[in-house]
Amino acid sequence: MIPDLPVDLDLIKGFLAADEATALYDCALQACSLGPVLEIGSYCGKSTVCLGLACQRGDSTLFALDHHRGSEEHQKGEMFHDPELYDHGEALFDTFGEFRRTIRAAGLEQVVVPIVAGSALAARHWNTPLGMVFIDGGHSLEAALTDYRCWAPHVVRGGILAIHDLFADAHEGGQAPYAVYRMALASGLFEALGQVNSLGMLRRL
Ligand SMILES: C[S@@+](CC[C@H](N)C(=O)[O-])C[C@H]1O[C@@H](n2cnc3c(N)ncnc32)[C@H](O)[C@@H]1O
Repeated sequence: MIPDLPVDLDLIKGFLAADEATALYDCALQACSLGPVLEIGSYCGKSTVCLGLACQRGDSTLFALDHHRGSEEHQKGEMFHDPELYDHGEALFDTFGEFRRTIRAAGLEQVVVPIVAGSALAARHWNTPLGMVFIDGGHSLEAALTDYRCWAPHVVRGGILAIHDLFADAHEGGQAPYAVYRMALASGLFEALGQVNSLGMLRRL
């Protein structure tokens, strides 16, 4: 359980189960003493609140990276499209307003640094070692691979790489995050720390 939650996680739009929320918080609390935390895929801020509260407690910083235009499955006509998050003026899906409201309501504006950009673009000149990286961005193989290749090398020794939506059985969900998880293990650079629901956690050796 996350102590002293300033907001009701169930009221934040998003894709994170309660046990995964607690696991993310626990991981970030451990890892943020080694360096700042970065997440790829903030959406409306559900995972951001979990990671951000841990960083607040550990006096660290969370970089919350998302272009806020949604993944393929969030676009109009797709399975996870939410019409309340569609900006009719721009004719674009846009989660940034909702994300900012969440971060403010959770009292995390002095902890969370939003990066409103694509993952590869944000990584181009990135040089800061990270205590933890949480990958929950695009779920195509190309997007998941890009996130892994761009961000996993920045995790410091002893730090944590967490990957969301791991499904060993293709009938349960897409296979790209699981492919990346296995790639991280096969690299010899990470050891498995366990899995909570669909959240896989690895430690950088
Ligand atoms: C599954 S949602 C994240 C859910 C969130 N972690 C939560 O707790 O509810 C995926 C997010 O990744 C973002 N995204 C997808 N591809 C991206 C990319 N290449 N760069 C940055 N953000 C991306 C989408 O805009 C979307 O908000």
